[in-house]
Amino acid sequence: MAEMLGQLILHPLSSMRLVLRRIKEIPQKGLPRFSSRDEETFDSRYDVETSGMVRIVSTASPNAAHGNRYEACSEEIIRWSIEHCASPAASTVFIDIGCGKGKAMIIAAEYGFSRIIGIEYSESLAKAAIRNLETSRVESQVLIEDAVAYRFPPGQSLVFMYNPFDQHVFRQVLRHIPSSARIAYCGPGQVTLTDCGWTPVAKKGAAAIYVRGF
Ligand SMILES: C[S@@+](CC[C@H](N)C(=O)[O-])C[C@H]1O[C@@H](n2cnc3c(N)ncnc32)[C@H](O)[C@@H]1O
Repeated sequence: MAEMLGQLILHPLSSMRLVLRRIKEIPQKGLPRFSSRDEETFDSRYDVETSGMVRIVSTASPNAAHGNRYEACSEEIIRWSIEHCASPAASTVFIDIGCGKGKAMIIAAEYGFSRIIGIEYSESLAKAAIRNLETSRVESQVLIEDAVAYRFPPGQSLVFMYNPFDQHVFRQVLRHIPSSARIAYCGPGQVTLTDCGWTPVAKKGAAAIYVRGF
């Protein structure tokens, strides 16, 4: 979009001609999609399949009603979270709670974390993550289980969560996260985090990094 606006300013006449031609093509080609660069290029750059939305996630978990749909986080937010967690990657375990098809794990692998773990309660999404991680040659562990049942490793970790569930499940999961961890959370549940004793130390839109106490 920014690129298109830049062209419009630099070459107004030819850009207007292109816009008019595209408007005429709407009956055959449909409305233009202003999707983000992230959506369009991540999958082709990494030769994986993470895009799209799974509205009804198949799972045998009793927490299904508390879980959110699958939709991958933007590359920008994932990288921002990792780059602002202030935890040295070499001694930090990256854990994606509700890892979906593994996009955040693939990106995390570029930063040299000591281990990369994904927790996903949908078998079909977890299998898609495993395929994507194999294609990307990422050494990691995908556990097919409910986040509530997961026991976090002691020591430094970056717990990444892109709006996986409602506060009923969120509160139970937070009880198991050790105070040595940092949480990168993106979604509407910021109040749950502060209620449970986590403090934001960096913010970007709906995303923030949390540490215990303060
Ligand atoms: C919005 S998607 C985020 C996917 C991934 N983290 C990413 O950024 O690409 C939320 C994911 O959380 C999973 N999820 C929801 N509730 C869960 C639970 N209780 N235990 C494990 N996974 C869960 C969903 O199946 C879905 O894949």
